[in-house]
Formats: sequence, structure tokens, C-alpha cells
Amino acid sequence: MSPASSVAPDLSHLWMPFTANRQFKAHPRLLASAKGMYYTDTDGRRILDGTAGLWCVNAGHGRESIVAALHRQAETLDYASSFNIGHEDSFRAATEIAALMPEGLDRIFLTNSGSESVDTALKMALAYHRARGEGQRTRLIGRERGYHGVGFGGISVGGISPNRKAFSGVLLPGVDHLPHTHDLAHNAFSRGQPAWGGEHFADALESIIALHDASTIAAVIVEPLAGSTGVLLPPKGYLERLRAITEKHGILLIFDEVITGFGRLGAATASEFFGVTPDLITFAKGVCNAAVPAGGVAVRRGIYEAVVDAAEGGIEFFHGYTFSAHPMATAAILSTLELYRDEGLFERARSLSGAFGDAAHALKGAPHVIDIRTLGLVAGIELEPRPGRPGARAAEVFNRCFDQGVLVRYTGDTIALSPPLIIEEAQIAQLFETISAVLHTVD
Ligand SMILES: Cc1ncc(COP(=O)(O)O)c(C=O)c1O
Repeated sequence: MSPASSVAPDLSHLWMPFTANRQFKAHPRLLASAKGMYYTDTDGRRILDGTAGLWCVNAGHGRESIVAALHRQAETLDYASSFNIGHEDSFRAATEIAALMPEGLDRIFLTNSGSESVDTALKMALAYHRARGEGQRTRLIGRERGYHGVGFGGISVGGISPNRKAFSGVLLPGVDHLPHTHDLAHNAFSRGQPAWGGEHFADALESIIALHDASTIAAVIVEPLAGSTGVLLPPKGYLERLRAITEKHGILLIFDEVITGFGRLGAATASEFFGVTPDLITFAKGVCNAAVPAGGVAVRRGIYEAVVDAAEGGIEFFHGYTFSAHPMATAAILSTLELYRDEGLFERARSLSGAFGDAAHALKGAPHVIDIRTLGLVAGIELEPRPGRPGARAAEVFNRCFDQGVLVRYTGDTIALSPPLIIEEAQIAQLFETISAVLHTVD
């Protein structure tokens, strides 16, 4: 606790991220502590965490082994640069991460966030093609409704207009977008992956390639399951088709697994879950249970070798962060991955996903619900928007759930759920019963 922690803070100085600052500061919701599945707010109320913080606290809050590892690390080696010097745990962490990635993606670059991971992966794609003498491959393909963080690379390939419009004049040139795959007319209330549209949506990539020519395209980046724009599941066959098309044309495929990595779908990665292996995987969040900021990129070995071998000597990839492989991050990563393994949390997520999906789909018929989407321990409950006021209904559901002691997330008019993988069946029931009760009270 800081010395002044008994005095209520002045809320005016902090410019809060992705927040309606004026509304928040008028009605703040302040969390004081967290343990296991629960937050406690500054009024002492317990709040069930239905969102694993922000899709990141996969092993639950305040895990003792992680806290102890951080404590030890802070006392032993507080900081070490990774520029031409290093510390052993950074290599151990990379080895452990590589072991969880799909076969072949065993070179690991460490960052501090999902946004940094995305921009790193995009740069790697460009560096790779250049190293192979195909430096004209500079075009990047994202997807409508994609979220890839907030760096200039990430918002350029991202497909969320409010994140782009203020900066539209300086987005990366040479970016194109696939159509999004959300289709309520065909796929509403699908259980698991929707049946309709997989090849149809992926084939749009062939049209983009025909327009620009494959020889100009460096990479395609998609979230295998899109979380931030409302839990959009890949239709059956979609990811497989994207893989086949990119491979045919020598285009790198990047899966942004910032939310799906480390157990969310009941496997180490969505790539493993869907059985589709990209060339690069971006990760963050769950890699260290959000105990400190950390992220990274897992890269196919041949990409690393092409870039490293092409250099004449000296630094091969002019990119990195002061805090890449920060000792606190690698300590958190190592202890988190040990916890996932020891407690079998990815398997636990898989075995709970049926009960979780049943509880979510039981909301069909509740007021305002126009679609329910579930996969692994992820659920999206889409509500009919209020006429002329998109997002307002879901915002009210979020507020009322919080008042009822349950933290959910909303994006547009979709309520998104992604609880810690340690959730118990009784807590799954509490989560969905609260949402159901709240839906019956909002107009
Ligand atoms: C798919 C995806 N990519 C990137 C990011 C950005 O991560 P960060 O907020 O750590 O920069 C997010 C964050 O939610 C995400 O969901």
C-alpha cells in the first residue's frame, strides 16, 4: 500500500484507456484486491470475475507460486537488458513457450504486450521476405472487425473504425482487409464453429490476391477467434482455407492469439485446437497470468533462420524493447506455465466447456438476445441494439451485473465472457443466472 492509500485518490489526473472518462469519474468502479475467481471492490463487495481480468488471468487471481516467484526475482535480479547481454530465465522461458506452440514454431521473441507482439510480427514478416530477396512483398492483409492492439501496425491491419478514424491519415500504406465472418442470417445460435460460410469468406483472399498480385503481399493476420469485436467464431473450414491459400502463394499467415493462447479454448493455442498451423503466433495476456506485462511472438524456425542467416554480421533484426524478456516477466512466465501444467488447466477448460456452453445457450429466449456463440471457455451473447443507440443496452447490462457482483465485458451490444480456467460449475451457474436476471430488468 502506498503511504497515502487511506486517502481517496484524485481521479482527475489519470487519462484512462478505452474508457468513457467523464462517466467513469462520475461513477467510479474501483477494485481493491483479487483472489481466485473474485475481485473485491473498494466498498468491500466481492465480484465474480467472468472475464479473467481482460482475457488474461487464466489461472485465477493472486496465485501464490507466481507471487513468490516475483518476490524472489525482485530480490535477485531486478532488471537485465536483452540487447547483446542476457539472463538465463529469458532462454528458459522461450524454451517453455516453444514447447507449447505448434510443431515448428519454436523461435520466440519477447515483448510486453499484445500490441507490441503484433507490430513485431508484422515487422518480422517484412524482414523475412526482404532477407529472401522478395523485399517487394510489403502488403499486409487484416480483416474487418479484427483487433490487433493499438500500435500503428495493429490499427492499420485491424478492422475497427473508431480505433482508426482519428489516425486515418497516417495508417500504414498498402494494407487491405478480408471481410469479417459474422453472419447472423446463416449462423445465429450455432453451437461451436458455425457451419455456414467458411470457404466463402476465406475465398475473398483469392480476390484480394488477384487485385494486388501475390508477389506484393507479405502476410495475412487474423485472430483465429475474434474476441474484441464480440466473440466471432471462425466458420468450419475457414482457417484451413486461409492456410491453404496463403501457403499456395508464399504469403505468411499470422494468428493473433493474444486472447486464445494459453488455454482459453481448452488447448495451449487456438492453432492446436483448430488443427491449423500458421507461420507466426502472437501472444500476451495468459502467458504470465497477467501478473506483469508480457507478450511475444512464436515464429517458424525457417523465418528466424532466413533473417539471421541473411545478415552479414552484427544485429540481424533491428527491433526490440528495453523490457523484452524483463526478469520479472520471465519469472512470471515460468511460474505460470508450471501452474498450467501442474493443475492441468487447459484440460480443465476443455472439460468444462460443455457445461459452460450449455449454461450460455440456456439464455436463448431471454429478452433482447439475438445470438449466442460459445467455444472453449468463451461466450458471446449478442443483444438487439436499442434503436439509434448501439451499445447502450449492453453497457447497462454490464453496469447492472457489476452491481449484482458479477464482472462481464461488453463490446458493441455483445456481452463477452471468458472466465479464469479455474471456474467451478456453481460459479458458471451464478454467472449466467445473474446475466439472465439482469436481462429481464433492462428495457
Ligand atoms: C487479439 C488481440 N490482439 C492484440 C491485443 C492487444 O493487446 P495489448 O492490450 O496487450 O496491447 C488484444 C487485446 O485485447 C487482442 O485481443
